[in-house]
Amino acid sequence: MTTKHLLLSTLLLFMAGWSTAYGEDGSQLWLRFNSVNTTAQVTGVKGTAMTELQTYWQGGPVVLKRQKGLARDGYTIKSQGGKTMIAAASDAGLLYGAYHLLRLQQMGEGCDRLDISEVPFYDLRILNHWDNPNGTVERGFAGKSIFLNPTPERLKMYARANASVGINGTVLNNVNAKPEALSTASLEKTKAIADQLRPYGIRVYLSINFASPIKVGGLETADPLDKTVVGWWKKKVDEIYRLIPDFGGFLVKANSEGEPGPQDFGRTHADGANMLAGVLKPHKGIVMWRAFVYAPQSPDRANQACLEFMPLDGQFADNVIIQIKNGPVDFQPREPYSPLFTAMQKTQMMVEFQLTQEYLGAANHLVYLAPMWQEFFSFVKPGSLKAMAGVANIGDDTNWCGHHFAQANWYAFGRQAWNPALKPEQIADEWLKQTFSRHGKDNGQEAAAANSQFSIFNSQLVKVMMDSREAAVNYMMPLGLHHIFAGTHHYGPEPWYSPKGVRADWTPPYYHRADSVGMGFDRTLTGSANVKQYPDSLCRLYNDVNTCPENLLTWFHHVPWDHRMKSGRTFWDELCHKYDEGVRETRRFLAVWDAMQPVVDAERFAAVQRKLRIQVRDAEWWRDACLLYFQTFSHRPIPQDVEHPVHNLDEMMKFHIPIGMYENPESGYNK
Ligand code: GCU
Repeated sequence: MTTKHLLLSTLLLFMAGWSTAYGEDGSQLWLRFNSVNTTAQVTGVKGTAMTELQTYWQGGPVVLKRQKGLARDGYTIKSQGGKTMIAAASDAGLLYGAYHLLRLQQMGEGCDRLDISEVPFYDLRILNHWDNPNGTVERGFAGKSIFLNPTPERLKMYARANASVGINGTVLNNVNAKPEALSTASLEKTKAIADQLRPYGIRVYLSINFASPIKVGGLETADPLDKTVVGWWKKKVDEIYRLIPDFGGFLVKANSEGEPGPQDFGRTHADGANMLAGVLKPHKGIVMWRAFVYAPQSPDRANQACLEFMPLDGQFADNVIIQIKNGPVDFQPREPYSPLFTAMQKTQMMVEFQLTQEYLGAANHLVYLAPMWQEFFSFVKPGSLKAMAGVANIGDDTNWCGHHFAQANWYAFGRQAWNPALKPEQIADEWLKQTFSRHGKDNGQEAAAANSQFSIFNSQLVKVMMDSREAAVNYMMPLGLHHIFAGTHHYGPEPWYSPKGVRADWTPPYYHRADSVGMGFDRTLTGSANVKQYPDSLCRLYNDVNTCPENLLTWFHHVPWDHRMKSGRTFWDELCHKYDEGVRETRRFLAVWDAMQPVVDAERFAAVQRKLRIQVRDAEWWRDACLLYFQTFSHRPIPQDVEHPVHNLDEMMKFHIPIGMYENPESGYNK
């Protein structure tokens, strides 16, 4: 299509008034199916797969067939001559097959010659909700907990969305678990949720507080080797399984950030995990034991998990999985992978990614996370892990995730847990087509024109999504910088935050260590020796300032301001360029989105545009705050060829956003 044609058809769409008449609120996520014209004949195995297809499939007859020999949760789809057959060994497999078909329909793909065979890579594909009993969501930016007073419709939509991307487990409550999660009243509520999720192949799990025997059971100790304690857990677990026969198991944050754990009783993580595993085992339940541990007095927080867990390698029961965050510190915009993944050899492990954007602009910034997860998998072989967990970005906001594009991270998490080899760009393309096109939604000439327009813009949006994570790294903390966020809410920049009395590893100067010589955390063999926790080849690479990948430079090195970078620039000049690049990228994202107006419904267009404008302003804020603050150490000018700060450091240092860890800031830097 020529530019002239493009402009003409764009204009026609405008005149048709679609962009204003076709409002959508995001509540249907990527499942914007049309149920009006459905005449589908679906026969065979009855169940949720059949109901979904009967409601939404617009093609020819479909047969659902149970077939032994296919892997659990796997399915095949074959179609010919207008007829389709989905076969699977389980109801869940049939449901995944049904959603595959609906996905193709929604993307506008032909469905008449299909020969598909799918098996999920991981058996366990699980969301972690950090939801509290009072309805707040820790680091949640999309409203209150969906589990507080769930309506059946909302819960059904949640279940459908998860099943449509293969997610088959959900931990309903915060890892900072309140003991009352195990009270009988609370378990009754959990049962009600489990009953509604079960038809969609989703099992529920709970985070537990390790001191529950004391706090709920009234015992004097929670020592995992104490017989009365074990007896208490056994009774509690039996009670849970009476209510929820397919209960999945426990997620445990122990001896971390003030949470109780076995070390309080002189026991190890293995003692604690194995005791729980023992009582869950007869019910086929599992324990996901987190490795997110660090002590305030540690000289390097990044070393902690290995120090605590390596001596226990091989000591965990076979229904324990150690759940490890992707990086060694805490979900930063960029971290190297956690060395525990390659160090532990005899222990089952799973990765924990964070979908909620605690450190990536909350629900205000467009940051597509699949490229970050792919980066992780380029270091840690997917096959070395048992499962994939994602900290959910879901709340009771109408559009579920606060930002329409944050839905893509929920979608991508499920797709990557199903198949970690899927390309992030393919996932983005799928999600965009299902979320914004009108395929399968309605038919007719107008929709066809809109879809053809949409496909022209789609590739630009895929590119925006693909570039968004690197852009965020650049405008927030390029070249290996990390944890230079505001002290309490982790939204904006406060590299200077260092109030008296706050533990050092909760303040940015602990991480950036800027001084007159340079900046960065020396984790080399002569520094904290963190590099030694990596395999030899990486240890050598990271240990040398001249071979260390530049995107991790200040993670591993205290880099002199005049260090020569690959670009030929000094480190200081490169830093300025990276921040500038990040800001310019956000402006490009906004410009691309602005051009989408003719092909996106008015409501979501305006909502995303508003957020992108915040993102541009916040990126400038990040750049200005960081460069002006670090300049007080570097004493070097900002290069002529980058845009110069437009805010004053003293004003930015006085600026505070009055939010806690449960809220999305309305408008970012608004001075
Ligand atoms: C981060 C986050 C906390 C969370 C913790 C965890 O530190 O800020 O809110 O509880 O991670 O993962 O346990």
